[in-house]
Amino acid sequence: MTSPSRTRVLTGITTTGTPHLGNYVGAIRPTVQASRDLSTDGFYFLADYHALIKCDEPGRIQRSTLEIAASWIASGLDPDKVTFYRQSDIPEIPELTWLLTCVTGKGVLNRAHAYKAAVDKNNAAGHDPDSDVTAGLFMYPVLMGADILMFKAHKVPVGRDQIQHIEMARDMASSFNHLYGEHFVLPEAVIEESVALLPGLDGRKMSKSYDNTIPLFAPAAQMRKQIAGIVTDSKAPGEPKATEGSALFQIYQAFANANETAAMVRAYAEGIGWGDAKQMLFERIDREIAPKREHYQSLIDNPAQMDKILLAGADKARQLATPFMRELRHAVGLRALSSGSTAAAAKEAKTSLPSFKQYREKDGQFYFKLVDAKGQVLLQSLGFASPKEAGQTIARLNSEGPDALADLKPILEFDPQTASSLSEVLMLLKAHTMANQK
Ligand code: TRP
Repeated sequence: MTSPSRTRVLTGITTTGTPHLGNYVGAIRPTVQASRDLSTDGFYFLADYHALIKCDEPGRIQRSTLEIAASWIASGLDPDKVTFYRQSDIPEIPELTWLLTCVTGKGVLNRAHAYKAAVDKNNAAGHDPDSDVTAGLFMYPVLMGADILMFKAHKVPVGRDQIQHIEMARDMASSFNHLYGEHFVLPEAVIEESVALLPGLDGRKMSKSYDNTIPLFAPAAQMRKQIAGIVTDSKAPGEPKATEGSALFQIYQAFANANETAAMVRAYAEGIGWGDAKQMLFERIDREIAPKREHYQSLIDNPAQMDKILLAGADKARQLATPFMRELRHAVGLRALSSGSTAAAAKEAKTSLPSFKQYREKDGQFYFKLVDAKGQVLLQSLGFASPKEAGQTIARLNSEGPDALADLKPILEFDPQTASSLSEVLMLLKAHTMANQK
């Protein structure tokens, strides 16, 4: 059973390809290490609903799901110690996605990086902005929010490109909590500073989309051949070489300990030949991967057993998801008509939020203050020449929340001692504004 006192850590991998060394170093290995920490309660899953956004090849999604699951387990993830499941085995996830969709501002999704990148690309090519953009891509952050909020995750280890999604999940959680009561935990992104973005064969980030990857569990001979294909400069053996900007060195460093790395730095300075450096890299990676390869292959050869493992994980996950979804349905009013008095329920009090009051002083200037339900002043503005300027500043505080404070500091006065509760209040107002913009 999961104990609520442990920190819940949750992350998923999208199932669109064969796992490569970049996935291993960036996601698989760190989650396996974290899962051994007994103070954490790990939730690890295969994001196959997310895969549908990018991939319309059914066989590939199925194969990738098996490969990523097998990679995780062969790398040491113990399905008995964590909750390990496939997203699409949890029907509560798409159900929650809808509830969250209804508290998410469309404007917020317009600003999501992945969607914006697609629109920018269309604009640059002179196409319709939404050409070939599915609503699935647009809704991606909401589905991800449901993954996270469903299990009340505290920490979500992700790559830098995903930070925005975690912030959006926080905003969804606070909007929902504000409207319907405290149901969700606000998650935090965890960025592993030490986890290098692994370069690929051509020196760019290792990624399926650049076709520059080294598969994690390729047979040793194939891995050696691929490593031989990593780009280097044309310096001859004996010439000193730069570690800076060397993809080969960066990959080596991701597998080596400090002593081994120091030895490689020396070897570069002493002019190691590229062929020898590649041999060293192959041996170092193979030392870590070879013992896992056989286990990986046995898992791949036995997909029925993997189905069983994943279904057992889904059972475990649904022991939380099913009752939680029931609670959430009730909270939003999707509930038995006979439950409670509907007339009384209709009057359910909303927590009263602090509000902005605008006024004019004898000096002829326009001011505002933020006052809480008890009449306490949380924030006071300096004077503005026009009511419009005052109004615009209020609008910014409402829509940007605490983020606006840094900019507006010179024209606001507030007690530094209460700054953190002020931030919290502004966060609530932002959530409220967002929910009302939909
Ligand atoms: N979007 C993530 C990625 O592509 C995968 C993912 C889906 C995820 N749902 C998640 C990661 C929930 C963390 C938490 O990397």
